[in-house]
Amino acid sequence: MRILSGIQPSGILHVGNYFGMMKPAIELQEQGEAYYFIANYHSMTSVFEAEKRREYVRGVALDFLACGLDPVKSVFFIQSDVPEVTELTWLLSSVTPMGLLERCHSYKDKLAKDISPNHGLFAYPVLMAADILIYDANVVPVGRDQKQHVEVTRDLAIKFNGLYGETFVIPEPQISEATATVPGVDGQKMSKSYHNTINIFDTEKAIRKRIMGLVMDSRTPDEPKPDAEKNIAIQLLKLVASADVYSETLEKLRAGGLGYGDLKKTLFTHYWEQFAEARKRRDELEADPTYVDGVLADGAEKAREVASGVLKRARRACGID
Ligand code: ADP
Ligand code: TRP
Repeated sequence: MRILSGIQPSGILHVGNYFGMMKPAIELQEQGEAYYFIANYHSMTSVFEAEKRREYVRGVALDFLACGLDPVKSVFFIQSDVPEVTELTWLLSSVTPMGLLERCHSYKDKLAKDISPNHGLFAYPVLMAADILIYDANVVPVGRDQKQHVEVTRDLAIKFNGLYGETFVIPEPQISEATATVPGVDGQKMSKSYHNTINIFDTEKAIRKRIMGLVMDSRTPDEPKPDAEKNIAIQLLKLVASADVYSETLEKLRAGGLGYGDLKKTLFTHYWEQFAEARKRRDELEADPTYVDGVLADGAEKAREVASGVLKRARRACGID
């Protein structure tokens, strides 16, 4: 089984990214041949400062390795180190119906917010399809918001195969249902574009402030809360604490008697503990840039070997070669 996923270096990674995408991807590296990359070409559609892009790429590399991506088990690389993917994007573009892209959330959301989309943003699912197809991936672990893009990938692969003969492997999205959508501090989906994130590797002070600032209702501590499961702090606690701690806290909240201040303190304690080891590891990695560069260079070499083979196959199928 070939597993593939990518993450954009378009900001600082938050716990939504961790539980929605990184953690499932890290777990999957035990079950097959995993290819994970930093999608810096994709970040071109939203980040317009060169230095910021470099900084974010570095940050994602450190975060992912610190959280447990193992470069011995997985191939870890930067998207643009395999430029073959942009050529495949063109081959796929030419079989992509406009209507398919017009229906994509990534594009529709920008229109709804009155952001004038660039062509890169409109065409972004085609680049993502090329990312997936160029590695013959079978399984693509992503958060729920990316499922549609994997479906577009399947459509394009089927279309290309139909026109030019069997060329691409048809991939399946894999969504981890338990953590499909992590709520942000305001209760909406956690996303850097909503400024409601808790970042994985922020300082203790910043994280405490974020957690203590979680938006709660005005009920008194003693009031029973039959809807306790919907509380944002409880939902986040479910992700970072053991099942026992979670159900005990949930019961207390439901019965009445647990104040929101204490609930948030419990959440902070477990949050801080959850990432303690990763924080230590990240400091070590940050002090050893040569190691990190080496991992990414090795990854790029392995990825490029696979990609150039698949691109050759696609070129031959459609009569470019
Ligand atoms: P953002 O919404 O902050 O811009 P991205 O779109 O860059 O995040 O998402 C990167 C990965 O993390 C994707 O696989 C996405 O599905 C996942 N992800 C992002 N936010 C969440 C969330 N709140 N819950 C679950 N998964 C998420
Ligand atoms: N579009 C994805 C995101 O914003 C990142 C990504 C790019 C990706 N190429 C990919 C994810 C290929 C999975 C497979 O999160």
